[in-house]
Amino acid sequence: MNAESDPVRTQLEERRLRELRHALQEERCLRKSADDARLRANTELAAMMQLHQLSTRLLTQAELSPLLEEVLDAAISLMNADFGNVQLYDDTTGALKIVAQRGFTHEFLDYFASVREGSSACGVAMQRRERVIVEDVLEDGTFTSCLNIAAAAGFRAVTCTPLCGSSGDILGMLSTHFRRPHRPTRAELQLLDLYASQAAQLIEHKQAQKALTDARVELARMMRVMMMGELVASIAHEIKQPLAAVVANASACAHWLDQCPPDIDEATEAVARIIRDANRASESIVRIRTLLQRGVVQKSAVDINEVIAEVAATVQSEIRDRGVSLCRVRDTTLPLVAADRVQLQQVVLNLVMNALDALNPVTQRARVLRIDVSRHGTHALQVSVRDSGVGLRPEHREQAFSAFHTTKPTGLGMGLAISRSIVEAHGGRLWATPNDNYGETFHFTLPFADLPDTPPA
Ligand SMILES: Nc1ncnc2c1ncn2[C@@H]1O[C@H](COP(=O)(O)OP(=O)(O)O)[C@@H](O)[C@H]1O
Ligand SMILES: [Mg+2]
Repeated sequence: MNAESDPVRTQLEERRLRELRHALQEERCLRKSADDARLRANTELAAMMQLHQLSTRLLTQAELSPLLEEVLDAAISLMNADFGNVQLYDDTTGALKIVAQRGFTHEFLDYFASVREGSSACGVAMQRRERVIVEDVLEDGTFTSCLNIAAAAGFRAVTCTPLCGSSGDILGMLSTHFRRPHRPTRAELQLLDLYASQAAQLIEHKQAQKALTDARVELARMMRVMMMGELVASIAHEIKQPLAAVVANASACAHWLDQCPPDIDEATEAVARIIRDANRASESIVRIRTLLQRGVVQKSAVDINEVIAEVAATVQSEIRDRGVSLCRVRDTTLPLVAADRVQLQQVVLNLVMNALDALNPVTQRARVLRIDVSRHGTHALQVSVRDSGVGLRPEHREQAFSAFHTTKPTGLGMGLAISRSIVEAHGGRLWATPNDNYGETFHFTLPFADLPDTPPA
């Protein structure tokens, strides 16, 4: 009997053939899913690496917009999207504003210039505080009101992921758009969430930084406003004196010109004195205006001796009229400090005005104010403002630096608090020590410009 005609054998061979084909197919399937898994793992790895690089850059980059643009680019490439945008939530208007975008027309950008809750896919995502996925705008009810703009902008699918802060409040929105209907995979969405939380952290971080800067600027402004009150007296003195002299010399001049014949020499001398005094008055105004100028911190290389000289010139008549003798000890060998000159003037001025106030009740001993400049270790300088006044009560020693602590009927109690914050922002310290006999000494340190505050360990 030959093999071809044996039906049992043929059946057996056919079965084996079927089994072999099946096994081959299974192996192909397995290999394909292994390839797919490898591809997915590679994509995820690339996305994670991008995320890591992004968070590293967060530490160095000062501006928010370029960082958000990077997050957007990463999200677009992860999702294989055609375009996308990042919006920021503006809590004064309650709307989302586009701050970074890729691939949109002007028409679209104008339409979505600011989005309020519920008016579109991202509006709905903002309202629900959760992601909205529109796989096809033509099929999804969410988009009925904006079908035209979707058609004009050229997208059929969109994914809007809210960016939420650590306390759950909405900070913005990360959206990716697709020209064709699109359903994102689970893995893509998981990675997108990581990008979104990275973007939310970025926004929160930058907003906190901005709030801090604003608070500092406001504090500095308050300090200047407060100084205004304290300076009114010295302005009056500084201006009144030369003005009185100008009036006296002007009438003298009129008198000399009235003579017959007019005494031109005397009149010319009186005019020269008028010019000198008027210049003195205007210099005082310039000095005081500099102190009160409103603005942001501007650091430059500053000679502390000059700062003290400028403050001393400003309060010169105040010191004289209160019968105080001022003694200044400078050190001209000191290196410069990197500082905001006006802020340092404010610190010194506040310490000097406080010392003058503390000297006011003193009648039984000399009213002495002494300002010393010296080295503090190798990396910093020290300024000490010492008075023979009433001194700080022991229980007030630390309180004196708290905001709104004052023992004066018209005091604000902000001077020392603001001065300490200024000195600390410059890397220094401000503190007080009682004098051996009478009065108080306030000291502050400032690191030299080109050296660190503390020597390396
Ligand atoms: N040189 C000083 N001698 C004694 N007390 C002082 C001196 N400087 C400050 N103080 C005390 O610290 C308080 C707080 O000072 P400050 O913050 O400048 O606010 P203010 O001058 O408006 O009271 C003052 O009211 C005063 O009691
Ligand atoms: Mg004060």
